[in-house]
Amino acid sequence: MVKRIGVLTSGGDAPGMNAAIRAVTRVALNSGLEVFGVYNGYKGMVEGYIEPLTKAAVGDIIDRGGTILGSARLPEFKDESVRLKAVEQLHKRGIEAIVVIGGDGSYRGAQALTDMGINCIGLPGTIDNDITSTDYTIGFDTALMTIVDAVDKLRDTSSSHHRCSVVEVMGNRCGDLAIWAGIACGAEIVCTSETGFEETEILERLRDLDVIRKKRHAIVIISEKMTDVHQFARKISLNTGFSGRATVLGHVQRGGSPTPSDRVLASRMGEKAVDLLMQGIGGQCVGIKDNRIISTPIEEALNIPRASRKQLQNLFDRLV
Ligand code: F6P
Repeated sequence: MVKRIGVLTSGGDAPGMNAAIRAVTRVALNSGLEVFGVYNGYKGMVEGYIEPLTKAAVGDIIDRGGTILGSARLPEFKDESVRLKAVEQLHKRGIEAIVVIGGDGSYRGAQALTDMGINCIGLPGTIDNDITSTDYTIGFDTALMTIVDAVDKLRDTSSSHHRCSVVEVMGNRCGDLAIWAGIACGAEIVCTSETGFEETEILERLRDLDVIRKKRHAIVIISEKMTDVHQFARKISLNTGFSGRATVLGHVQRGGSPTPSDRVLASRMGEKAVDLLMQGIGGQCVGIKDNRIISTPIEEALNIPRASRKQLQNLFDRLV
């Protein structure tokens, strides 16, 4: 049976990653395994920045955002020669298996390592909720909370000044943060890759909200990478009765203390990852489906198409 495992965080950080590191470490130690932290993602693996983790080392972190292990993106990990260096570092320390906490890019690295004899289990750590093998990713709930908090505040000031706030949220081409936030904040308009961005139509709707509905404010939530929100806010000022203002929430969405939901999700997923490794299983990623913790082969997971959010969009439209 596996005796020594490693854990790393990779890609963009997400609140709840620390809770996952803690769960992996404590469950593994309590099962008689030794645990090593691999610092700065795959980069640290290649460089040999790997240290033992104790129960105390992961104490007092369940409530902390970010990742105590540090994270990095390493596109070069696609090269076999780079991965061979990483595998050598693991062999030197007798580390036989790894838990990789990150997004789909990190999963590809995990599969490649598994193919090279190091069993890896992926945990979905990203605020984007763009991993299709799970209903929710670790960090999504916290990022949503941050957005809702910010938009609630923007609504206050927008109402006072008869303004339209255009709020750009993250998601890396996945509209989940935008549509969930739109519903939770009672926004007037939401634009995601699924709805598209029809400028003329949105301006028309804003004019109706002003003239017919006599709204004191309007909130437009837009997924990143769809349009220049500053320019769009200027067009709102020129073409509607609202004065437009843009807010790009940016990396503030990636920080903060994880919500209880993210902490519990990370803990449940961390436990599952260790259990899989103890059964000698690798090349799988952990997810949650209908509130059950499941695992899916990584190769299959990377090819699952994104489920349509039409129902949520319809709900949003019926709430405006
Ligand atoms: O994947 C998480 C994420 O925050 C995306 O929402 C965003 O597009 C991207 O990472 C930003 O990356 P970086 O932190 O490297 O600028």
